[in-house]
Amino acid sequence: MILVSPSLLSAKLDSLGNELINIKKAGADFAHLDVMDGHFVNNIAFGPSFAKFLSTPTIPLDIHLMISNPRFYIEKFIVEYAEFITIHVETINESDFNYIEKVVHSNNKKLGITLRPSTDIDSIIKYLNKVDLVLVMSVEPGFSGQKFNSIGLERLTYLSDYRKKHNLSYLLEIDGGVDNTNYKDCIKCGADIIVSGSYLFSNNMEEKIKEFKNV
Ligand code: DX5
Ligand code: ZN
Repeated sequence: MILVSPSLLSAKLDSLGNELINIKKAGADFAHLDVMDGHFVNNIAFGPSFAKFLSTPTIPLDIHLMISNPRFYIEKFIVEYAEFITIHVETINESDFNYIEKVVHSNNKKLGITLRPSTDIDSIIKYLNKVDLVLVMSVEPGFSGQKFNSIGLERLTYLSDYRKKHNLSYLLEIDGGVDNTNYKDCIKCGADIIVSGSYLFSNNMEEKIKEFKNV
């Protein structure tokens, strides 16, 4: 069964609380929260107080940290209803990873790792046996509404084969430009969770989520 995580970056910002209820009603499994610091990416969005405000029993949060110093901020994003907290490999070294891993897992949250499309996939290999999720980015992080980059499919295939070969159990999530023209390929290549922003929020979210899940 495919899990769906609509990206709140495309939600109605003047009624975010209601949007959580709406996406839950539409059949979503998680709400994807993009955290951007204007430094690691050229956009600014959703700080820790937002994460806290949006942390409700309505729907679990899937937090994607696009920030330069996740080690410094990690405790602030350990909010009650966070399911996943995902960090970018470009923003950490091994000691940061170990620290963050301890904080996330000791708070009974799931840890994800991700990377820019332009970052070498080898950079995440050493962390794969310690994470619960690998988020494959199919656009340059920073903005919703960009075109899907097929490197995402190559990476899903590679990471799905790697998982099998090494008997690992991380979930695979795809994020960026996912719509009706490419979701089937994402699922075929191994995606377990689909993030989608502009496509899902444009109209008929419920039907679109059903389509995603029926494959
Ligand atoms: C991009 C974000 C995505 C984005 C997805 O940096 O990580 O989550 O909001 O939006 P769409 O589906 O419109 O590309
Ligand atoms: Zn995201």
